[in-house]
Amino acid sequence: MHRYVQGLIFTLLLVVLLPVSGLAGDPVTGPPAADSKGPAILLVTFGTSVPSAQVAFANIEKQVKASFPSSEIRWAYTSKMIRKKLAKSGIIVDSPETAMAKLMDEGHAKVVVQSLHMIPGAEFHEIYANAKLFEQMSGGIGKVIVSYPMLTTDESMEKVLRAIAADVVPKERQPEDAVVLMGHGTHHPSDAIYSALMYKLQQRDPNMYIATVEGHPTFDEVQEMLVKKDIEKVYLVPFMTVAGDHALNDMAGDEPDSWKSQLAKAGIESVPVLKGLAEFNSLVELWLDNLKMAMGQVK
Ligand code: CO
Repeated sequence: MHRYVQGLIFTLLLVVLLPVSGLAGDPVTGPPAADSKGPAILLVTFGTSVPSAQVAFANIEKQVKASFPSSEIRWAYTSKMIRKKLAKSGIIVDSPETAMAKLMDEGHAKVVVQSLHMIPGAEFHEIYANAKLFEQMSGGIGKVIVSYPMLTTDESMEKVLRAIAADVVPKERQPEDAVVLMGHGTHHPSDAIYSALMYKLQQRDPNMYIATVEGHPTFDEVQEMLVKKDIEKVYLVPFMTVAGDHALNDMAGDEPDSWKSQLAKAGIESVPVLKGLAEFNSLVELWLDNLKMAMGQVK
C-alpha cells in the first residue's frame, strides 16, 4: 500500500513536471545538457560472472534509482577477465574508463563514481586516478567525484559489523558457534583494515572472526584459533559485495583446499551463507550514504 502511494505520487509529479522539463529541449535553446537532470552516477564493481550474484547488483541499482530518480545510472566492471567472459555470452559491460569516455562524449558535465568495493584498495585507487583524468582533458567532464567504498572510517566499520550481526548471520546461530567472515584481502596497504575489523569483531563477540583469501588475517591463523577454542560449528559468511567465485569455491566448495573442507578435516562443522553483502539493504545503505555525500558535493 505504501509503495503504491509512493508510485502514485511519483506518477503525479511526472505528469506535473514533464511539460516543464520538456521546455528545456526547445529547438531555440537547443538540446538540453546531458545532465540537466543532475550528475550522472557510475557504479563500479569488480564484477561477477555468477548469475545468482547479479541479484546483489540489481538490488544496489534499485536503491540508487530510488534515491536519485532523475540521474543517469551506469555500471562498469574493473575485471577484464569477467568482462571478457560475459562478452562471450553477449553481455557487454564497460570498463570504468570506457564508461567515463561515453559519459564525456554524451556531454555530462558532472559525474559521481561510486566504488562498490569493501575497502579503498588497489582497484579503488586505480578508479580514482583514471576517473579524475577526465576532468583534465580538454572537452572533458567538468566535475568528477570518486566516492569512497564501504569501509573508510571507524564509524563505518562499526556500522558494517552491526549490520552483519543483525541481518547476515543466520538467526539460528548459537553463541558457542563461531562466525568466520571471508574477506578478499589484498597486497595493497589497506589490507590492514581486515586486521582492524578482527579486533572490532573480537571486542563485540569473541566467537566472531575474519579471514581473507589473499591477505591477512589468513585462514590458517583463524582456523588455529578455532581449534584452540574447541569450536564445533562455524558459520562461513562472505565479506564481499557478491557471493561469487570466492564464496562458492574457495569458501564453500568441495575441493580439499576450500575453507569448508579444511574445517571438516579439523573436525569442525561449517554452514556456508551464500549471500553477498549487497543483497542486504542495511549494508547497501553504507554505499548509499557515501554516494549521497558525494552527490551533495557536486550539486
Ligand atoms: Co579475487
